[in-house]
Amino acid sequence: MSAEGRFTGKVAIVTGAASGIGRAVAERLAREGARVLIADRDADNGPDVAAGIHAAGGEAAYLPADVTRYDDCRRMVDETASRWGGLDLLVNNAGVGGGAPVAALEEEAWDHILDVNLKGVYLCSRAGLPALAARGGGAILNVASIAGLIAAPAMGAYAASKAGVMQLTKVLALEGARQNIRANALCPIWVDTPMVRRYVGRAPDPEQTFQGLKARIPLGRIGTVDDVAAAALFLLSDEASFITGVALPLDGGALCGSA
Ligand SMILES: NC(=O)c1ccc[n+]([C@@H]2O[C@H](COP(=O)([O-])OP(=O)(O)OC[C@H]3O[C@@H](n4cnc5c(N)ncnc54)[C@H](O)[C@@H]3O)[C@@H](O)[C@H]2O)c1
Repeated sequence: MSAEGRFTGKVAIVTGAASGIGRAVAERLAREGARVLIADRDADNGPDVAAGIHAAGGEAAYLPADVTRYDDCRRMVDETASRWGGLDLLVNNAGVGGGAPVAALEEEAWDHILDVNLKGVYLCSRAGLPALAARGGGAILNVASIAGLIAAPAMGAYAASKAGVMQLTKVLALEGARQNIRANALCPIWVDTPMVRRYVGRAPDPEQTFQGLKARIPLGRIGTVDDVAAAALFLLSDEASFITGVALPLDGGALCGSA
C-alpha cells in the first residue's frame, strides 16, 4: 500500500477498468490505498490489471461484468461487500464509441451506445447507491465526454449518451446530497487510449488523423490517461468534499475557442 494513502480504507468499483482511462483510475486509486474492484466485460485484460495492482503492492480483484445488465451491477456491489465490507467510491467509466451520421445510424448501434454509456451509469448507480449510503456517504464519478458539451458530426448516439450522463450526474448529486453522496462527471476531449487508437486506425490516413486531433486543442496535445486519473482522484477525494454535480471539462482549452 502506498505511503500517500489518500484513499486508505476506501473501497472502489471502477467499471471498464480493463483498459484505457478506467485502468489508469483503478491503478492510481490502488496506489493511493483503495481496494479496487475491476469490473469489465473484458475477461482477457481485466485479470491482468488486477494482477498488476497486486504485483505493485495494492489490493484489487477482477469481476467479469456487463454494465448493461442490472444483475451484473448488483454482483459488483455484492462482491465489494463480501470481500471488503462495503463501498465508498463508484467510478462509472465503461463506455463505447462509434457511430455514424444520423441518416445512416442503425438502431442497433444507437441502442448499444445508449445502453452502455447511459443506461449502464443508471444501472450501476442504482445498484451502488444503497451501499454508499450504508457507509454514511461516498462519491460517484461518471466519465462523460466533451462530446456531451459540443456536438460533432457522426456522433449522434455518443454525444446524446454523454449529455445524458452529465444531466444524470446532476440528478444523482441532488438525490445523494442529504446522504453525503457526491456525484461528479469528467468531460475529456481526446485521450490517448485503445478506444481512440481504434478510431484513428479506421481513418484512411491514421497518422494525419491523429495529428489533426491535436491541432484542434490549444495546449497542442491530446490528453493522457494520467491527466484524467489525476482529475478523477481529486473529485473522488475528500479534498473535493464541497464539490458535487459538476461536469469538469478536460479539454486542453478547446472550449475557450481556437488558439
Ligand atoms: N478516449 C477518449 O478520447 C475519451 C474521451 C472522452 C470520454 N471517454 C470515455 O472514457 C471512458 C473510457 O474510455 P477509454 O477511452 O478508456 O476506452 P477503452 O475502449 O480503452 O476502455 C473501455 C473499457 O470499457 C469496457 N466496456 C465496454 N462496454 C462495457 C460493458 N457493457 N460492460 C463493462 N465494461 C465495458 C471495455 O471492455 C474496455 O475495457 C468511456 O466512457 C469513454 O466514452 C473517452
